[in-house]
Amino acid sequence: MKSEDKDTTNNAQKFSRRDWLTHTAKLGGAVGAALSGASIAKAATPEPLITEIQDWNRYMGDGVDARPYGLPSQFEHDVIRRDVSWLTADAKSSINFTPIHKLDGIITPNGVCFERHHSGIAEIEPSNHRLMVNGLVDKPLVFTMQDLERFPRESHVYFLECAANGGMEWRGAQLNGCQFTHGMIHNVMYTGIPLKYLLEEAGLKTNAKWLLPEGADPSHMTRSIPMEKAMNDCLVVFKMNGEALRPEQGYPLRLVVPGWEGNMWVKWLRRLEVGDKAWHHREETSKYTDLLADGSARRFTWTMDVKSVITNPSPQAPVLHGRGRTVLAGLAWSGHGKVKRVDVSIDGGRNWKPARVDGLTLSKSLHRFYYDFDWDGREMFMQSRAIDELGQVQPTKNALREARGENSIYHNNAIQTWHVKNDGVVENVEIS
Ligand code: MTE
Ligand code: CO
Repeated sequence: MKSEDKDTTNNAQKFSRRDWLTHTAKLGGAVGAALSGASIAKAATPEPLITEIQDWNRYMGDGVDARPYGLPSQFEHDVIRRDVSWLTADAKSSINFTPIHKLDGIITPNGVCFERHHSGIAEIEPSNHRLMVNGLVDKPLVFTMQDLERFPRESHVYFLECAANGGMEWRGAQLNGCQFTHGMIHNVMYTGIPLKYLLEEAGLKTNAKWLLPEGADPSHMTRSIPMEKAMNDCLVVFKMNGEALRPEQGYPLRLVVPGWEGNMWVKWLRRLEVGDKAWHHREETSKYTDLLADGSARRFTWTMDVKSVITNPSPQAPVLHGRGRTVLAGLAWSGHGKVKRVDVSIDGGRNWKPARVDGLTLSKSLHRFYYDFDWDGREMFMQSRAIDELGQVQPTKNALREARGENSIYHNNAIQTWHVKNDGVVENVEIS
C-alpha cells in the first residue's frame, strides 16, 4: 500500500487518464475482494470499456440549445407504443399499447401512454376550445380555458385502463408480450379541477342524477356517469405529468374518472349535460357489457377490479443473464382503492411468496412490485396475484370463465402465466 501511495503522489502529473482508469479499476477490485467473491472476478477481467478512452470521453457533445424539447436516448428507440395490425380495420378507430415491459416505477411517460380513439386525434387550439355545462342546472355555463384556470386545482395519480385490456386473452393465451396482453393502461399525475366545482358553479337541480360528458372529436364520444361519482372524485384536467395533456390524450381538456373503465374518461371534453336518467349508448349495450354464459349481460360494470401482471421477465423481456440473481418486476392496481398485497409464484401457483411493493402506494394508481430471487436455471411458470384493500383477490382465468363464460371481452382481470424456459425465453401460456 505504501509504495502505491507514493506512486500516485509523486507521479500524479504524469498519469494519463487511461492509467488513472486502470489504477482505480484495480483498487476497486481489491476493495470488492473483501465484500463478495462474485464482484472480484468481474473487476479482474481486462475491460476495454473502462480502460480505453471512448469517443464520448474524448469529444464534446451537443450544447444546451440542441434539444429544446428533450427526447429519450437514441438507444431506447424500441420503447414505443405498438399496435396489433389485425385488431382493428383502421388506425383512426384503433388502439395501441403501452410498452410496460420497458418501464419501471409507477409513472407512465407521456410519450408512451397507450392511445384509444374512435375517430382519430382532434387537434384543438386552446383559445378555440369551450366547455359547456347544461341540462338540469340553474344556469347553463360556457367556460373558456382561461376561465377554467381560475378554479382551485388538485393533482392526483390515477391509472386509466381500457375495459378491453386483455380482451383477446379470454379464450386462451394469445399475444406474446405484456405490452399486448396488459398494455391498454397508463398511470400519470393529472392536474385539474374537481368536477364538482364546475357543477356547483352551474347549480344542480334536485333531480340531477346523471352526467353526460361529450368529446369534441368526430365520434362525439358520450357516456352516462352517475352523479355520485361525478361529485365524488372526478376531475376535469388540463395537465398530465406536469405538462399540457398530449393531443393523443385529449388536449386541451379531458375527464378523469378514477378507478372506472377508460371509455368514460372523455377526451377533448366539450360538454357536460346533466340529466335525471342514464342516456342510452349504443356501445354500452352492444360492447361495454359483459355477456354471461346464460346469454344474460352484466351491465354497468364500471369499476376496474383488482389486477396485476409480471412485466419482467415476460415474452418481450426474456431472462438473458442465466441462473443466479434475478429481479422479477410487475404492476398491480385496483379501481376500488389501494393494493394491499401482491403474491408471486414461479411454479404455476402451487407456492406463493409475498412480493415487495415498492415506492408510492396510492389509491386507484398503479403499484410497483418486485421479487428478488436466485434462479436455479430450471423452467418456471410465473404468476402474480394482487389483493386490494377491500380484500378482493385476483381470480384465475378458469375461475373468471366459470363466472362469466367464454363470450366476454371486457373486464378480464385474471392471473397471467408466463412460461420461462431454461434458456430464458418467455412465452404466454395457460395452465389448468
Ligand atoms: N374520448 C373521446 N372523445 N373519444 C374517444 O375515442 N376513447 C375512450 C376514452 N375517451 C375516446 C375517449 C376509450 S375507449 C378509452 S380506453 C380512453 O379514452 C383511452 O384514453 P387514452 O387514449 O388516453 O389512452
Ligand atoms: Co377503451
